[in-house]
Amino acid sequence: MLRKILTGLMLVGLAIGVVSCAKKAPTKLTIATDSTFPPMEMVDTNKNIVGLDVDLMNAAAKAGGFTVEFKSTAWDGIFAGLDNGKYDAVMSSVTITDERKKTIDFSVPYFNAGQILVVKTEANGVTTLDDLKGKTVGAQIGTTGAFEIDKVKVADKITEKTYDEIGLAVADLVNGRIDGVVVDTPTAANYVLQSDTYKGKLKIVGKPFTEEYYGVAVKKGNTKVLDIINAGLKKVLDAGDNKAIEDKWLK
Ligand code: ARG
Repeated sequence: MLRKILTGLMLVGLAIGVVSCAKKAPTKLTIATDSTFPPMEMVDTNKNIVGLDVDLMNAAAKAGGFTVEFKSTAWDGIFAGLDNGKYDAVMSSVTITDERKKTIDFSVPYFNAGQILVVKTEANGVTTLDDLKGKTVGAQIGTTGAFEIDKVKVADKITEKTYDEIGLAVADLVNGRIDGVVVDTPTAANYVLQSDTYKGKLKIVGKPFTEEYYGVAVKKGNTKVLDIINAGLKKVLDAGDNKAIEDKWLK
């Protein structure tokens, strides 16, 4: 009888052990990214999503004991999808702004990237948006680059052209359909200096004219996911392990 009870207890203990072990399986987060924004997020020749953001999030996941899966998602609608629960977070070079903070929660800032102006190599006397008075300037729709054009377009009589992807704006610039592009500095540098297609055809003018910090976005109030991401991200940033990742992608 006693032996039966003891065996029973052992079985119960075993069951509890199994259940609690199963609970400890690492959390898997699905992360949406508009992978058309080199060198932050892009698709390589093997169709893998790669880039600075991807490496940084993978490092954060490793440090924080969770796993991530990136999902390519169009920028236009990426925050609506977050709100609808289609994925757990957005890591897509998203600038933390007061306006966005009203509807989205952000992780700790992880990268500083201001807006900068790109023009054709032969464009002379252009260093700021004001120098493009009466001209056409492009940006990706719904980005802080587009918001900067919004601010001056009436005063400067600038025609704003927005694109679903920044690569389309850059192509239009090279083909002479528009006169300038406003975009995040690392992406501008990537097109101007790294792209085999565009090398020599474009230049960056002036200095970054905004100060912007990237953050990982989660649905408003989703502290559970935010805490997981922040814990991992802070470990990477505190250790300075983001430096090597930045050096790898920002040449
Ligand atoms: N930093 C800018 C913003 O938040 C542009 C981000 C665009 N990101 C992208 N993956 N297309 O508005």
